[in-house]
Amino acid sequence: MRVVVTGAAGFIGSHLVLALVAAGHDVLAVDAPARNASPAAVAGNIAVLARAGVPLTECDLATDDLGPLADAEVVLHLAGRPGVRASWGPGQADAERDNVTATGRLLAACARSRPRFVLASSSSVYGEAARPSAEHDGLDPRSPYATSKVEAERLVQRAVAEGMPAVVLRYFSVYGPRQRPDMAFHRFIEAALDGSPAPLYGDGGQRRSFTFVGDVVDATIRAAHAPLPAGTVLNVGHPVTAGLHEALDRIGALLGTPSPTVPKDPAPGDVTCTWADTGRTGRLLGWTARTGLDDGLARQIAWHRERVRV
Ligand SMILES: NC(=O)c1ccc[n+]([C@@H]2O[C@H](COP(=O)([O-])OP(=O)(O)OC[C@H]3O[C@@H](n4cnc5c(N)ncnc54)[C@H](O)[C@@H]3O)[C@@H](O)[C@H]2O)c1
Repeated sequence: MRVVVTGAAGFIGSHLVLALVAAGHDVLAVDAPARNASPAAVAGNIAVLARAGVPLTECDLATDDLGPLADAEVVLHLAGRPGVRASWGPGQADAERDNVTATGRLLAACARSRPRFVLASSSSVYGEAARPSAEHDGLDPRSPYATSKVEAERLVQRAVAEGMPAVVLRYFSVYGPRQRPDMAFHRFIEAALDGSPAPLYGDGGQRRSFTFVGDVVDATIRAAHAPLPAGTVLNVGHPVTAGLHEALDRIGALLGTPSPTVPKDPAPGDVTCTWADTGRTGRLLGWTARTGLDDGLARQIAWHRERVRV
């Protein structure tokens, strides 16, 4: 299968590329490294791809010619500007450019060839969850990031109406080796390892459907293959939520030392709970998140230890 992966030098994209290559697929790994908010993280991910013999095709989806990307059978579109906190103020323009403009241009480039197109959207489109969020629930974006993902989903559904066999995956708080440095577990683990406190936004009572990156990759590859009706939207999240304090306790127990934290005001748009209803994903993809929090955290911690040692 000839597959284009956008955002290939990102956290999730780099795992996805390696899994597809290992499964024998012909992968075009595309990214615009200068658009990644962390130069160190993207350099590390590119080095991992290079060690696996995977070259990166540099292409800015918001500005460059996308013709060479259009002849794939599958386009897995993970490129974008993630993060709720970073999307306020000047970050809003980045979210619009890299999540909305880039998606619109990529869909337009693929309009004639009509590959199976998979958009990486986000649980943040749901807003606050008092119970598990199902895909047919109303959307309530609470930040420029969430709004940009709602807009990207709309662009996908418009392309579906014009004949594109596109689907949407809503990822929930992904963690694991190479997690982005702005994300909570990354900050907490680094804080425990080097002793400098990590910011803890709000009261730490936030609950999330934390989902291990290997499970997210598995769901994404299933979505590339499965005969899903065009326009299908699927949650990709662990059905059991955990609180930030609970995660901190587990990280402390696994490392044998607590993570120092410094309290910060709640971040605007940071909801108290996201919670995945994965019934539809189970039925249509035969997928469920298999990695428990302790196991996934242990694997992420192993990566941080290795990183510190190098
Ligand atoms: N990590 C999560 O918990 C999570 C949750 C929900 C949704 N998502 C979505 O999944 C996708 C991947 O997330 P991630 O955590 O791996 O983020 P990431 O920042 O590590 O990866 C995204 C990559 O996209 C690239 N990119 C950005 N703009 C681009 C452009 N204009 N052209 C080409 N490449 C561009 C960046 O350089 C970066 O390497 C994103 O779309 C994100 O919004 C992530």
